[in-house]
Amino acid sequence: MKNNKILIFDTTLRDGEQSPGASMNIGEKVRIATQLEKLGVNIIEAGFPAASMGDFKAVKIISEKLEKSQIAALCRTHLQDITKAWDAIKKAKHPRIHVFIATSDIHMKYKLRMSKNQIIEKAVKAVKYAASFTDNIEFSAEDSSRSDPDFLCQIFNAVIDSGASTINLTDTVGYAVPGEFSKLIKYIIKNTLNIHKAVLSVHCHNDLGLATSNTLAAISSGAGQVEVTINGIGERAGNASLEEVVMSLNTRPNFFQKKTSINTRKIYEISRLVRMITGITIQPNRPIVGANAFSHKAGIHQHGILKNPMTYEIMKPETIGLNKNKLILGKHSGRHAFYAHVKEMGYNLSENELNLIFKKFKLLADKKKKILSDDIEALINEEILRTREVFSLKSLYVSTGTEVDSTATLELKINNKIVNGSTKANGPIDAVFNTISRITNTKSELLRFSISALTSGTDAQGEVTVRLIEHGIIALGRGTSSDIIIASALAYINGLNRLEHLKKENFTIKQESF
Ligand code: KIV
Ligand code: ZN
Repeated sequence: MKNNKILIFDTTLRDGEQSPGASMNIGEKVRIATQLEKLGVNIIEAGFPAASMGDFKAVKIISEKLEKSQIAALCRTHLQDITKAWDAIKKAKHPRIHVFIATSDIHMKYKLRMSKNQIIEKAVKAVKYAASFTDNIEFSAEDSSRSDPDFLCQIFNAVIDSGASTINLTDTVGYAVPGEFSKLIKYIIKNTLNIHKAVLSVHCHNDLGLATSNTLAAISSGAGQVEVTINGIGERAGNASLEEVVMSLNTRPNFFQKKTSINTRKIYEISRLVRMITGITIQPNRPIVGANAFSHKAGIHQHGILKNPMTYEIMKPETIGLNKNKLILGKHSGRHAFYAHVKEMGYNLSENELNLIFKKFKLLADKKKKILSDDIEALINEEILRTREVFSLKSLYVSTGTEVDSTATLELKINNKIVNGSTKANGPIDAVFNTISRITNTKSELLRFSISALTSGTDAQGEVTVRLIEHGIIALGRGTSSDIIIASALAYINGLNRLEHLKKENFTIKQESF
Protein backbone atom coordinates (compact mmCIF):
# COMPACT_ATOMS: atom_id res chain seq x y z
CA MET A 1 0.00 0.00 0.00
CA LYS A 2 1.22 3.53 -0.81
CA ASN A 3 2.38 5.54 2.20
CA ASN A 4 0.05 8.52 2.60
CA LYS A 5 1.68 10.04 5.69
CA ILE A 6 3.64 13.29 5.43
CA LEU A 7 6.15 13.94 8.20
CA ILE A 8 6.12 17.46 9.60
CA PHE A 9 9.57 18.83 10.46
CA ASP A 10 9.24 22.18 12.21
CA THR A 11 12.20 24.56 12.15
CA THR A 12 10.64 27.60 13.91
CA LEU A 13 13.32 27.38 16.60
CA ARG A 14 16.20 27.26 14.11
CA ASP A 15 15.39 28.78 10.68
CA GLY A 16 12.53 30.75 12.29
CA GLU A 17 14.93 32.22 14.79
CA GLN A 18 17.07 33.42 11.88
CA SER A 19 14.33 35.99 11.10
CA PRO A 20 15.85 39.40 11.82
CA GLY A 21 15.24 40.28 15.47
CA ALA A 22 13.45 37.05 16.34
CA SER A 23 15.95 35.82 18.93
CA MET A 24 14.22 33.94 21.71
CA ASN A 25 15.58 33.14 25.12
CA ILE A 26 15.92 29.57 26.39
CA GLY A 27 12.68 29.56 28.39
CA GLU A 28 10.74 30.83 25.38
CA LYS A 29 12.24 28.17 23.12
CA VAL A 30 11.30 25.44 25.59
CA ARG A 31 7.76 26.77 25.76
CA ILE A 32 7.40 26.79 21.97
CA ALA A 33 8.94 23.29 21.70
CA THR A 34 6.47 21.97 24.28
CA GLN A 35 3.55 23.39 22.27
CA LEU A 36 4.99 22.03 19.00
CA GLU A 37 5.01 18.56 20.52
CA LYS A 38 1.37 18.99 21.61
CA LEU A 39 0.56 20.18 18.09
CA GLY A 40 1.78 16.80 16.83
CA VAL A 41 4.97 17.85 15.02
CA ASN A 42 7.04 14.75 14.14
CA ILE A 43 10.47 16.39 14.18
CA ILE A 44 11.40 19.62 15.98
CA GLU A 45 14.62 21.28 14.86
CA ALA A 46 15.56 22.81 18.19
CA GLY A 47 18.64 24.76 17.09
CA PHE A 48 22.21 24.82 15.84
CA PRO A 49 24.25 23.87 18.95
CA ALA A 50 27.66 24.89 17.56
CA ALA A 51 26.39 28.40 16.75
CA SER A 52 26.14 29.70 20.31
CA MET A 53 26.10 28.66 23.95
CA GLY A 54 22.46 29.76 24.09
CA ASP A 55 21.54 27.44 21.21
CA PHE A 56 23.44 24.54 22.74
CA LYS A 57 21.68 24.93 26.10
CA ALA A 58 18.23 25.34 24.53
CA VAL A 59 18.65 22.20 22.39
CA LYS A 60 19.88 20.25 25.41
CA ILE A 61 17.01 21.29 27.67
CA ILE A 62 14.41 20.63 24.97
CA SER A 63 15.98 17.20 24.32
CA GLU A 64 15.73 16.30 27.97
CA LYS A 65 12.15 17.52 28.32
CA LEU A 66 10.26 16.28 25.28
CA GLU A 67 9.04 12.70 24.95
CA LYS A 68 7.32 12.17 21.65
CA SER A 69 8.76 14.38 18.92
CA GLN A 70 12.15 13.69 17.40
CA ILE A 71 14.63 16.45 18.26
CA ALA A 72 16.95 17.55 15.47
CA ALA A 73 20.13 19.56 15.86
CA LEU A 74 21.66 21.29 12.86
CA CYS A 75 25.37 21.13 12.08
CA ARG A 76 27.78 21.88 9.30
CA THR A 77 29.89 19.00 7.99
CA HIS A 78 32.64 19.99 10.49
CA LEU A 79 33.22 17.09 12.85
CA GLN A 80 33.35 19.39 15.88
CA ASP A 81 29.83 20.68 15.00
CA ILE A 82 28.56 17.11 14.93
CA THR A 83 30.17 16.26 18.28
CA LYS A 84 28.55 19.37 19.78
CA ALA A 85 25.17 18.57 18.22
CA TRP A 86 25.27 15.04 19.62
CA ASP A 87 26.27 16.34 23.03
CA ALA A 88 23.16 18.52 23.01
CA ILE A 89 20.68 15.86 21.83
CA LYS A 90 22.06 12.61 23.19
CA LYS A 91 19.53 12.47 26.03
CA ALA A 92 16.55 12.98 23.69
CA LYS A 93 14.15 10.03 23.37
CA HIS A 94 14.42 10.37 19.58
CA PRO A 95 17.53 12.34 18.57
CA ARG A 96 18.33 13.33 14.99
CA ILE A 97 21.58 14.81 13.64
CA HIS A 98 21.01 17.16 10.71
CA VAL A 99 24.11 17.78 8.59
CA PHE A 100 24.25 20.23 5.69
CA ILE A 101 26.62 21.43 3.01
CA ALA A 102 26.02 23.53 -0.10
CA THR A 103 25.91 21.82 -3.52
CA SER A 104 25.26 24.62 -6.03
CA ASP A 105 28.10 25.78 -8.29
CA ILE A 106 27.90 29.35 -6.97
CA HIS A 107 28.14 28.25 -3.30
CA MET A 108 30.88 25.68 -3.97
CA LYS A 109 32.98 28.16 -5.97
CA TYR A 110 32.61 31.37 -3.96
CA LYS A 111 31.59 30.38 -0.44
CA LEU A 112 33.22 27.00 0.13
CA ARG A 113 35.95 27.08 -2.54
CA MET A 114 35.66 23.33 -2.95
CA SER A 115 35.24 20.98 -5.92
CA LYS A 116 32.31 18.56 -6.32
CA ASN A 117 34.52 15.65 -5.27
CA GLN A 118 35.68 17.48 -2.15
CA ILE A 119 32.06 18.26 -1.24
CA ILE A 120 31.04 14.60 -1.58
CA GLU A 121 34.06 13.50 0.44
CA LYS A 122 33.27 16.01 3.22
CA ALA A 123 29.57 15.06 3.28
CA VAL A 124 30.31 11.32 3.41
CA LYS A 125 32.88 11.77 6.19
CA ALA A 126 30.41 13.85 8.21
CA VAL A 127 27.51 11.42 7.76
CA LYS A 128 29.73 8.45 8.68
CA TYR A 129 30.86 10.30 11.79
CA ALA A 130 27.24 11.12 12.69
CA ALA A 131 26.38 7.45 12.16
CA SER A 132 28.77 6.55 14.98
CA PHE A 133 26.22 8.23 17.31
CA THR A 134 22.79 7.52 15.79
CA ASP A 135 21.05 6.02 12.78
CA ASN A 136 18.64 8.98 12.59
CA ILE A 137 20.61 11.27 10.27
CA GLU A 138 19.33 13.92 7.91
CA PHE A 139 21.51 15.28 5.15
CA SER A 140 20.65 18.61 3.47
CA ALA A 141 22.09 19.81 0.19
CA GLU A 142 21.99 23.57 0.67
CA ASP A 143 20.82 25.53 -2.40
CA SER A 144 19.60 22.30 -4.08
CA SER A 145 17.21 24.11 -6.41
CA ARG A 146 20.19 25.84 -8.08
CA SER A 147 22.39 22.71 -8.03
CA ASP A 148 23.18 20.33 -10.88
CA PRO A 149 20.50 17.59 -10.58
CA ASP A 150 22.97 14.83 -11.49
CA PHE A 151 25.36 16.02 -8.81
CA LEU A 152 22.49 15.96 -6.32
CA CYS A 153 21.73 12.32 -7.24
CA GLN A 154 25.39 11.47 -6.82
CA ILE A 155 25.79 13.09 -3.41
CA PHE A 156 22.44 11.74 -2.12
CA ASN A 157 23.44 8.26 -3.24
CA ALA A 158 26.76 8.58 -1.41
CA VAL A 159 25.30 9.91 1.86
CA ILE A 160 22.50 7.33 1.93
CA ASP A 161 25.15 4.62 1.52
CA SER A 162 27.00 6.20 4.46
CA GLY A 163 23.97 6.17 6.76
CA ALA A 164 21.69 9.13 6.02
CA SER A 165 18.06 8.17 6.62
CA THR A 166 16.53 11.45 5.37
CA ILE A 167 17.75 13.56 2.47
CA ASN A 168 16.60 17.15 2.18
CA LEU A 169 16.21 19.10 -1.04
CA THR A 170 16.34 22.78 -0.30
CA ASP A 171 15.19 25.89 -2.05
CA THR A 172 17.49 27.98 0.11
CA VAL A 173 17.03 31.25 -1.77
CA GLY A 174 13.36 30.82 -2.72
CA TYR A 175 14.19 30.62 -6.43
CA ALA A 176 12.19 27.55 -7.47
CA VAL A 177 8.78 27.56 -9.14
CA PRO A 178 6.32 24.71 -8.55
CA GLY A 179 6.40 22.96 -11.97
CA GLU A 180 10.19 22.98 -12.08
CA PHE A 181 10.59 21.96 -8.42
CA SER A 182 8.21 19.08 -8.97
CA LYS A 183 10.31 17.90 -11.95
CA LEU A 184 13.45 18.06 -9.82
CA ILE A 185 11.87 15.88 -7.12
CA LYS A 186 10.79 13.30 -9.69
CA TYR A 187 14.24 13.35 -11.27
CA ILE A 188 15.93 12.73 -7.92
CA ILE A 189 13.55 9.89 -7.10
CA LYS A 190 14.14 8.27 -10.50
CA ASN A 191 17.90 8.68 -10.63
CA THR A 192 19.12 8.11 -7.07
CA LEU A 193 19.60 4.36 -6.91
CA ASN A 194 19.18 3.86 -3.17
CA ILE A 195 16.48 6.52 -2.64
CA HIS A 196 14.06 3.87 -1.29
CA LYS A 197 16.28 3.58 1.81
CA ALA A 198 15.66 7.22 2.83
CA VAL A 199 12.83 9.69 3.33
CA LEU A 200 12.88 12.52 0.80
CA SER A 201 12.31 15.90 2.45
CA VAL A 202 11.91 19.46 1.12
CA HIS A 203 12.75 22.83 2.67
CA CYS A 204 11.43 25.90 0.83
CA HIS A 205 11.98 29.60 1.36
CA ASN A 206 9.47 32.27 0.45
CA ASP A 207 11.42 34.93 -1.47
CA LEU A 208 8.94 34.84 -4.38
CA GLY A 209 5.96 33.97 -2.20
CA LEU A 210 6.05 30.38 -3.50
CA ALA A 211 7.25 28.43 -0.47
CA THR A 212 3.90 26.78 0.24
CA SER A 213 3.19 26.11 -3.45
CA ASN A 214 6.63 24.54 -3.95
CA THR A 215 6.21 22.42 -0.82
CA LEU A 216 2.80 21.18 -1.96
CA ALA A 217 4.14 20.47 -5.47
CA ALA A 218 6.92 18.43 -3.85
CA ILE A 219 4.37 16.45 -1.82
CA SER A 220 2.44 15.62 -4.99
CA SER A 221 5.69 14.48 -6.59
CA GLY A 222 6.74 12.08 -3.86
CA ALA A 223 8.27 14.01 -0.91
CA GLY A 224 7.60 12.31 2.42
CA GLN A 225 8.75 15.07 4.80
CA VAL A 226 8.25 18.85 4.68
CA GLU A 227 10.20 21.48 6.60
CA VAL A 228 8.05 24.37 7.79
CA THR A 229 7.76 27.05 10.45
CA ILE A 230 4.89 28.53 12.44
CA ASN A 231 3.59 31.73 10.77
CA GLY A 232 6.17 31.09 8.02
CA ILE A 233 8.90 32.94 9.93
CA GLY A 234 12.49 32.34 8.85
CA GLU A 235 15.53 33.73 7.09
CA ARG A 236 14.65 36.78 4.90
CA ALA A 237 11.09 36.31 3.52
CA GLY A 238 10.68 33.21 5.67
CA ASN A 239 9.93 29.53 5.15
CA ALA A 240 6.89 27.55 4.05
CA SER A 241 4.35 27.93 6.82
CA LEU A 242 3.15 24.92 8.78
CA GLU A 243 -0.42 26.16 8.91
CA GLU A 244 -0.70 26.73 5.15
CA VAL A 245 0.80 23.37 4.19
CA VAL A 246 -1.16 21.37 6.77
CA MET A 247 -4.47 23.11 6.11
CA SER A 248 -4.04 22.66 2.34
CA LEU A 249 -3.67 18.92 2.85
CA ASN A 250 -6.64 18.92 5.24
CA THR A 251 -8.93 21.07 3.15
CA ARG A 252 -8.21 19.26 -0.13
CA PRO A 253 -8.01 15.59 0.96
CA ASN A 254 -9.28 14.27 -2.36
CA PHE A 255 -6.64 16.10 -4.31
CA PHE A 256 -3.60 15.39 -2.12
CA GLN A 257 -4.64 12.14 -0.40
CA LYS A 258 -2.03 12.78 2.30
CA LYS A 259 -2.33 12.99 6.06
CA THR A 260 -0.24 14.51 8.84
CA SER A 261 -0.22 13.94 12.58
CA ILE A 262 -0.98 17.62 13.30
CA ASN A 263 -3.85 18.44 15.65
CA THR A 264 -5.12 21.40 13.62
CA ARG A 265 -7.18 22.67 16.58
CA LYS A 266 -3.95 23.85 18.17
CA ILE A 267 -2.77 25.90 15.18
CA TYR A 268 -4.23 29.25 16.23
CA GLU A 269 -2.87 28.97 19.77
CA ILE A 270 0.70 28.25 18.69
CA SER A 271 0.60 30.88 15.97
CA ARG A 272 -0.33 33.41 18.62
CA LEU A 273 2.37 32.18 20.98
CA VAL A 274 5.08 32.52 18.32
CA ARG A 275 3.83 35.99 17.45
CA MET A 276 3.91 37.02 21.10
CA ILE A 277 7.38 35.63 21.73
CA THR A 278 9.10 36.80 18.56
CA GLY A 279 7.19 40.07 18.24
CA ILE A 280 6.83 39.33 14.51
CA THR A 281 3.35 40.55 13.70
CA ILE A 282 1.00 38.76 11.34
CA GLN A 283 -0.47 40.77 8.48
CA PRO A 284 -4.30 40.80 8.80
CA ASN A 285 -4.85 39.17 5.39
CA ARG A 286 -2.41 36.33 6.05
CA PRO A 287 -3.99 32.93 5.26
CA ILE A 288 -5.30 30.78 8.14
CA VAL A 289 -3.98 32.83 11.09
CA GLY A 290 -4.43 36.47 9.95
CA ALA A 291 -7.02 38.56 11.79
CA ASN A 292 -9.18 38.78 8.64
CA ALA A 293 -8.82 35.16 7.56
CA PHE A 294 -12.32 34.30 8.79
CA SER A 295 -14.05 37.68 8.79
CA HIS A 296 -16.54 38.63 6.10
CA LYS A 297 -17.22 42.22 5.18
CA ALA A 298 -19.37 42.16 2.05
CA GLY A 299 -23.10 42.01 2.86
CA ILE A 300 -23.71 39.32 0.28
CA HIS A 301 -21.01 37.17 1.87
CA GLN A 302 -22.40 37.72 5.38
CA HIS A 303 -25.82 36.70 4.16
CA GLY A 304 -24.46 33.52 2.59
CA ILE A 305 -22.44 32.68 5.71
CA LEU A 306 -25.55 32.96 7.89
CA LYS A 307 -27.43 30.54 5.62
CA ASN A 308 -24.53 28.11 5.33
CA PRO A 309 -20.94 28.95 6.40
CA MET A 310 -19.53 26.79 3.62
CA THR A 311 -20.82 29.27 0.99
CA TYR A 312 -17.77 31.45 1.59
CA GLU A 313 -15.66 29.53 4.12
CA ILE A 314 -13.60 26.61 2.87
CA MET A 315 -12.43 25.88 6.43
CA LYS A 316 -14.27 26.15 9.72
CA PRO A 317 -12.57 28.54 12.18
CA GLU A 318 -12.94 25.87 14.89
CA THR A 319 -10.71 23.53 12.83
CA ILE A 320 -7.73 25.73 13.66
CA GLY A 321 -8.93 26.29 17.23
CA LEU A 322 -10.25 29.77 16.62
CA ASN A 323 -13.08 30.47 19.02
CA LYS A 324 -14.98 33.57 18.09
CA ASN A 325 -13.80 36.22 20.50
CA LYS A 326 -16.71 35.73 22.83
CA LEU A 327 -17.44 37.49 26.09
CA ILE A 328 -16.40 35.06 28.73
CA LEU A 329 -16.05 36.78 32.08
CA GLY A 330 -16.94 39.97 33.90
CA LYS A 331 -16.20 41.91 37.03
CA HIS A 332 -18.24 39.57 39.22
CA SER A 333 -16.79 36.31 37.96
CA GLY A 334 -15.36 34.25 40.75
CA ARG A 335 -12.06 32.46 41.09
CA HIS A 336 -13.46 29.03 40.11
CA ALA A 337 -15.12 30.26 36.92
CA PHE A 338 -11.94 32.10 36.03
CA TYR A 339 -9.72 29.04 36.60
CA ALA A 340 -12.08 26.85 34.59
CA HIS A 341 -11.93 29.24 31.62
CA VAL A 342 -8.17 29.49 31.75
CA LYS A 343 -7.99 25.70 31.68
CA GLU A 344 -10.43 25.53 28.79
CA MET A 345 -8.20 27.94 26.88
CA GLY A 346 -5.50 25.26 27.05
CA TYR A 347 -3.28 26.73 29.78
CA ASN A 348 -1.87 24.59 32.50
CA LEU A 349 -0.81 27.07 35.17
CA SER A 350 0.58 26.53 38.65
CA GLU A 351 -1.38 27.66 41.74
CA ASN A 352 0.88 30.71 42.12
CA GLU A 353 0.54 31.67 38.48
CA LEU A 354 -3.24 31.33 38.66
CA ASN A 355 -3.39 33.56 41.74
CA LEU A 356 -1.26 36.18 40.05
CA ILE A 357 -3.33 36.15 36.86
CA PHE A 358 -6.58 36.28 38.84
CA LYS A 359 -5.41 39.41 40.67
CA LYS A 360 -4.48 41.04 37.35
CA PHE A 361 -7.84 39.99 35.88
CA LYS A 362 -9.72 41.68 38.74
CA LEU A 363 -7.76 44.89 38.24
CA LEU A 364 -8.54 44.81 34.53
CA ALA A 365 -12.23 44.06 35.16
CA ASP A 366 -12.42 47.25 37.24
CA LYS A 367 -11.24 49.27 34.27
CA LYS A 368 -12.85 47.38 31.40
CA LYS A 369 -16.48 46.23 31.27
CA LYS A 370 -16.17 43.34 28.85
CA ILE A 371 -13.40 40.86 29.36
CA LEU A 372 -12.79 38.90 26.15
CA SER A 373 -10.77 35.73 25.74
CA ASP A 374 -8.06 37.75 23.97
CA ASP A 375 -7.78 40.01 27.04
CA ILE A 376 -7.22 37.02 29.29
CA GLU A 377 -4.72 35.53 26.91
CA ALA A 378 -2.83 38.84 26.84
CA LEU A 379 -2.70 38.85 30.64
CA ILE A 380 -1.46 35.28 30.80
CA ASN A 381 1.17 35.83 28.18
CA GLU A 382 2.28 39.04 29.82
CA GLU A 383 2.83 37.32 33.15
CA ILE A 384 3.95 33.84 32.15
CA LEU A 385 6.16 34.77 29.24
CA ARG A 386 7.80 37.56 31.14
CA THR A 387 11.45 36.70 31.59
CA ARG A 388 13.00 36.51 35.03
CA GLU A 389 13.21 40.18 35.66
CA VAL A 390 16.22 42.30 36.48
CA PHE A 391 14.03 45.39 36.08
CA SER A 392 10.36 45.76 36.94
CA LEU A 393 7.94 48.66 37.06
CA LYS A 394 6.65 49.70 40.49
CA SER A 395 4.86 52.93 39.63
CA LEU A 396 4.52 55.51 36.89
CA TYR A 397 3.18 59.04 36.79
CA VAL A 398 2.99 61.14 33.63
CA SER A 399 1.82 64.67 33.01
CA THR A 400 1.43 66.08 29.54
CA GLY A 401 -0.45 68.76 27.64
CA THR A 402 -0.55 71.00 24.58
CA GLU A 403 1.41 73.90 26.10
CA VAL A 404 3.90 72.09 28.31
CA ASP A 405 6.65 69.50 28.08
CA SER A 406 5.70 66.00 29.19
CA THR A 407 7.13 64.81 32.48
CA ALA A 408 7.47 61.17 33.51
CA THR A 409 8.21 60.04 37.04
CA LEU A 410 8.94 56.37 37.50
CA GLU A 411 9.77 53.98 40.27
CA LEU A 412 11.51 50.75 39.21
CA LYS A 413 12.74 47.71 41.07
CA ILE A 414 16.25 46.93 39.89
CA ASN A 415 17.67 43.69 41.28
CA ASN A 416 15.42 44.07 44.33
CA LYS A 417 16.32 47.71 44.99
CA ILE A 418 13.80 50.49 44.44
CA VAL A 419 15.12 53.30 42.26
CA ASN A 420 13.27 56.35 40.97
CA GLY A 421 13.72 59.23 38.59
CA SER A 422 11.98 61.87 36.56
CA THR A 423 12.59 63.37 33.09
CA LYS A 424 11.00 65.98 30.84
CA ALA A 425 10.69 65.44 27.09
CA ASN A 426 8.70 66.34 23.99
CA GLY A 427 6.07 63.67 24.45
CA PRO A 428 4.95 61.31 27.24
CA ILE A 429 6.44 58.14 25.75
CA ASP A 430 9.76 59.82 25.09
CA ALA A 431 9.77 61.03 28.70
CA VAL A 432 9.01 57.52 30.00
CA PHE A 433 11.71 55.86 27.85
CA ASN A 434 14.34 58.48 28.73
CA THR A 435 13.60 58.04 32.43
CA ILE A 436 13.84 54.26 32.21
CA SER A 437 17.11 54.31 30.32
CA ARG A 438 18.56 56.86 32.77
CA ILE A 439 17.63 55.04 35.96
CA THR A 440 18.54 51.58 34.65
CA ASN A 441 21.79 53.00 33.29
CA THR A 442 21.30 51.11 30.01
CA LYS A 443 22.52 52.23 26.61
CA SER A 444 20.27 50.39 24.19
CA GLU A 445 18.96 52.06 21.07
CA LEU A 446 15.28 51.91 20.14
CA LEU A 447 14.97 50.45 16.64
CA ARG A 448 11.23 50.10 16.39
CA PHE A 449 8.12 51.03 18.32
CA SER A 450 4.68 49.79 17.36
CA ILE A 451 1.33 49.99 19.02
CA SER A 452 -1.89 48.12 18.27
CA ALA A 453 -5.26 47.45 19.88
CA LEU A 454 -5.59 43.85 21.00
CA THR A 455 -9.35 43.91 21.29
CA SER A 456 -11.98 46.35 20.00
CA GLY A 457 -13.53 49.41 21.69
CA THR A 458 -12.02 52.53 23.24
CA ASP A 459 -11.31 50.59 26.44
CA ALA A 460 -9.39 47.91 24.48
CA GLN A 461 -6.04 46.64 25.70
CA GLY A 462 -3.16 48.26 23.85
CA GLU A 463 -0.21 46.13 22.88
CA VAL A 464 3.14 47.81 22.46
CA THR A 465 6.15 46.13 20.86
CA VAL A 466 9.62 47.62 20.95
CA ARG A 467 12.81 46.43 19.33
CA LEU A 468 16.01 47.35 21.16
CA ILE A 469 19.64 46.90 20.14
CA GLU A 470 22.73 46.93 22.32
CA HIS A 471 26.22 45.82 21.19
CA GLY A 472 24.69 44.12 18.14
CA ILE A 473 22.20 42.07 20.17
CA ILE A 474 18.57 42.71 19.29
CA ALA A 475 15.72 42.06 21.71
CA LEU A 476 12.01 42.53 21.49
CA GLY A 477 9.90 43.73 24.35
CA ARG A 478 6.14 43.58 24.70
CA GLY A 479 3.71 45.18 27.07
CA THR A 480 -0.06 45.21 27.29
CA SER A 481 -2.33 47.47 29.28
CA SER A 482 -5.55 49.37 28.78
CA ASP A 483 -3.32 52.48 29.17
CA ILE A 484 -0.91 52.83 26.24
CA ILE A 485 1.69 54.79 28.22
CA ILE A 486 1.86 51.98 30.80
CA ALA A 487 1.95 49.40 27.96
CA SER A 488 4.89 51.33 26.45
CA ALA A 489 6.78 51.40 29.75
CA LEU A 490 6.16 47.67 30.26
CA ALA A 491 7.34 46.90 26.70
CA TYR A 492 10.53 48.90 27.13
CA ILE A 493 11.31 47.27 30.49
CA ASN A 494 10.51 43.83 29.04
CA GLY A 495 12.91 44.54 26.15
CA LEU A 496 15.67 45.52 28.60
CA ASN A 497 15.12 42.32 30.61
CA ARG A 498 15.32 40.25 27.45
CA LEU A 499 18.51 42.01 26.41
CA GLU A 500 20.02 41.07 29.78
CA HIS A 501 19.05 37.43 29.15
CA LEU A 502 20.36 37.33 25.62
CA LYS A 503 23.63 38.93 26.70
CA LYS A 504 24.09 36.14 29.25
CA GLU A 505 22.98 33.31 26.98
CA ASN A 506 24.44 34.17 23.61
CA PHE A 507 28.05 33.61 22.89
CA THR A 508 27.96 33.63 19.11
CA ILE A 509 30.69 31.97 17.03
CA LYS A 510 31.90 33.31 13.72
CA GLN A 511 29.67 31.75 11.10
CA GLU A 512 32.35 31.81 8.43
CA SER A 513 30.95 29.04 6.25
CA PHE A 514 27.28 29.11 7.08
O1 KIV B 1 17.63 27.05 3.69
C1 KIV B 1 18.43 26.13 3.87
O2 KIV B 1 19.07 25.60 2.95
C2 KIV B 1 18.61 25.65 5.23
C3 KIV B 1 19.44 24.42 5.43
C4 KIV B 1 20.47 24.62 6.49
C5 KIV B 1 18.57 23.23 5.68
O3 KIV B 1 18.07 26.21 6.15
ZN1 ZN C 1 16.41 27.48 5.42
